[in-house]
Amino acid sequence: MTQDELKRQVAQAAIEYIEDDSIIGVGTGSTVNHFIEALEAVKHKIKGAVSSSEASTEKLKAMGIEVMDLNFVGDFDVYVDGADEITQHKHMIKGGGAALTREKIVAAVARKFICIIDDSKQVDVLGEFPLPVEVIPMARSYVAREIVKLGGDPVWREGVITDNGNVILDVYNLQIIDPPTLEKTLNNIVGVVTNGIFANRGADVVLVGSQNGVQTLK
Ligand code: A5P
Repeated sequence: MTQDELKRQVAQAAIEYIEDDSIIGVGTGSTVNHFIEALEAVKHKIKGAVSSSEASTEKLKAMGIEVMDLNFVGDFDVYVDGADEITQHKHMIKGGGAALTREKIVAAVARKFICIIDDSKQVDVLGEFPLPVEVIPMARSYVAREIVKLGGDPVWREGVITDNGNVILDVYNLQIIDPPTLEKTLNNIVGVVTNGIFANRGADVVLVGSQNGVQTLK
């Protein structure tokens, strides 16, 4: 199977976690795009979706799925999203698609985070994938200097503006030994909106697509 086929396979497996009459949280990215396509079969049974990006919102609406405002939804059962890297402790790096802040908000509200990945995303230590940090535009240089003090090499993702009107710094050369602590440390820098470490609220269930089928890690 190609990597894309692995993504489709694992996205399909996530459909089983969707309950009738529920509201589902929908992430962003190429794996989630397969999940959105797979929703076709169950869309008549769900109330609607909360979306983590304009890109996913557009796709959901095109399928006739109602996209709800998180402020009026309260909490809901299941959030399905991909990851750029994930450890055995279910700590993740996310934000390769620049949607990290809304993803983190929707994940915080969901009772269960189901992470869907192909097996290339599994790592022992986070950090080979450059860590995305969403930053208020006027703070870009200041935040970059503060990140250098922490040992990272930030690179401005030029030309990218997030759905929230901010910019992204991708931080290279971090070996993230203690993800929950670094997540908090980076979020404490003035001007940072959030960073792509999802550790203080990691995944609850990880579905891993591989050549041997889908493995479930709980
Ligand atoms: C989007 O900002 C990201 O957090 C994605 O969830 C992550 O990059 C995984 O994307 P793919 O499914 O495209 O690999």
